[in-house]
Amino acid sequence: MNQLGVTLPGLKLKNPIMPASGPFGLGERYRDDFDYSILGAIIIKSTTSQARVGNPKPCYHHLDTGLLNAVGLKNPGVDVVVNEKLPALKDFDTPVIASVAGTTTAEFVEVTKKLCQSPYVKAIELNVSCPNVAEGGLTFGSNPEAVRLMTEAVKKIATVPVYVKLTPNVTDIVAIAQAAEKGGADGISMINSLLSMAIDLDTRKPYLSNKTGGLSGPAIKPLAIRMIYQVSRAISIPIIGMGGVSTADDVLEMIMAGASAVAIGTAQYKNPLACKEIIEALPIRMKELGIESIEGLITEVKEGRRNEY
Ligand code: SIN
Repeated sequence: MNQLGVTLPGLKLKNPIMPASGPFGLGERYRDDFDYSILGAIIIKSTTSQARVGNPKPCYHHLDTGLLNAVGLKNPGVDVVVNEKLPALKDFDTPVIASVAGTTTAEFVEVTKKLCQSPYVKAIELNVSCPNVAEGGLTFGSNPEAVRLMTEAVKKIATVPVYVKLTPNVTDIVAIAQAAEKGGADGISMINSLLSMAIDLDTRKPYLSNKTGGLSGPAIKPLAIRMIYQVSRAISIPIIGMGGVSTADDVLEMIMAGASAVAIGTAQYKNPLACKEIIEALPIRMKELGIESIEGLITEVKEGRRNEY
């Protein structure tokens, strides 16, 4: 048995580690730092129908325990992604998950259709959870019925598996995950960032031009763990977990909570080699903890769950 391998709908991963949508951009940002072929997969930055310039600067504010961002879905538009950015990843032996965003269901459908035409896209992540845009994003992701309808519409035309990315900015994340599953989602990815704010005492104004931003990084890991634990007990599709993961121990903790793969986000801003170092550290920590394989751990967690009832 491959010690680190994980199989998910549409994805045969050599290990459970992938960059989360955002820090890797559209794949270009860290390509000189290490060989992407070592990654389980790559989730690229969310793509919309037309290019978006994003929110005015400053759109990042670093905190001791995390990062506030209000990028505003900056991207060159789906045609550039399909014709230029995805082909540039062809030399890497790593499945690409393309993240889709938009302001209407029709836009999500159009972008998904175009991305599915690329031979490099092995799965879609539906970003119905961006906290930094006035339309789309949270307005979809916080309403279970809207999530179900959006998932259904995208599933009708998608030719690869669809993972729905959930926002933590809701009262009941379980209801949203169940709605995505009901709409036909093949998997869930969770969690996106937490709507937050920080104020500069000198200017007495918020640091971010958008005023609010999404909080990510170590501060949100316990919240992600709690939500993944709850959601994994309420659905039967797999979860790609994310939220403040920066070490191999964090990865194992997230799998023990109920995730089947783990995405690394903010940790890469501090250390572009975070994914590589985590992949290297995993077998060492697994041996110390008596974990024979990641698939074995996922099965053990699932079985443990069954025995709880
Ligand atoms: C952004 O582009 O504002 C961040 C993306 C997201 O949180 O989904």
